[in-house]
Amino acid sequence: MMSLAWPLFRITEQAALAAWPQTGCGDKNKIDGLAVTAMREALNSVAIRGRIVIGEGEIDRAPMLWIGEEVGSGAGPEVDIAVDPIEGTRMVAMGQSNALAVMAFAPRGSLLHAPDMYMKKLVVNRFAKGAINLALPLADNLRNVAAALGKPLERLRMVTLDKPRLQPAIAEATRLGVKVFALPDGDVAASVLACMQENPYDLMYTIGGAPEGVISACAVKALGGDMQAELIDFCEAKGDNADNRLIATQERQRCAEMGVEVNRIYALDELVGGNKILFSATGVTGGDLVKGIQQVANGVRTQTLLIGGADRTCNIIDSLHSW
Ligand code: FBP
Repeated sequence: MMSLAWPLFRITEQAALAAWPQTGCGDKNKIDGLAVTAMREALNSVAIRGRIVIGEGEIDRAPMLWIGEEVGSGAGPEVDIAVDPIEGTRMVAMGQSNALAVMAFAPRGSLLHAPDMYMKKLVVNRFAKGAINLALPLADNLRNVAAALGKPLERLRMVTLDKPRLQPAIAEATRLGVKVFALPDGDVAASVLACMQENPYDLMYTIGGAPEGVISACAVKALGGDMQAELIDFCEAKGDNADNRLIATQERQRCAEMGVEVNRIYALDELVGGNKILFSATGVTGGDLVKGIQQVANGVRTQTLLIGGADRTCNIIDSLHSW
């Protein structure tokens, strides 16, 4: 796997570079399409027998690297690929910060194979490993994580997304005195940041995309943190009505076909088996995790966070792309 580190970070760089010129264009599907095309092209030149096991695109019907798609040159190791060509398409479309191009590689069979649907996720760093249990109410998890970290609830920092479905969780955490950071989008960066040594957050709790969840799980595993996740259907995430019920029925059918269960709690080892993981995130617009793409005198500068699970190494790679 380690020999794939270089090709992997070049792929997320290519996706970020393809999308970046359209920052502020207002069209998130266009941005996703540019990144997807660049990623597919870059992936197909790498000597792997790759398979997209969890990809982005069905929730908002954006262009996608579809789940089950075979990629790579057709020679070399068998690789499971989790992908979010642009994590934060809306941010790029609106010219906002914190958007990334993200991909993770793992040996064949080691990543959870699930449809693109909503997922409840709870992430902590290695100091609170073992203290989370999604079967318990959020308040209990907050108390248990605070106890594991040896801090009062008033000093616990929870990061989440500012979405209507998460308002009850935000209200509950706030009521307990927990400091809540509700971001407009982007739970991959939030999950990774929660696991970093000098972390701005103690835990990440959200209901967001399953692809983002599995990709985050790769980084969490490599960084020694902990995570639990639960696939939830469209009605539970967005409210119960006839249209949503139809989507929920389709989602449940796809889960059955793929051999995964809705409302079952998956532990980190079930999301990602083993630690031979590579995770790469290149900044498109600047954020807390990595810098965004910058125009410089003789080209364009990108910044990528490359995490290797097997050698427990994080590389921050600054590249200058000249022409
Ligand atoms: P995309 O840009 O890939 O759609 O993801 C942005 C994001 O905020 C994710 O971080 C999160 O998991 C998901 O969207 C939440 O979904 P929704 O936008 O439907 O609330």
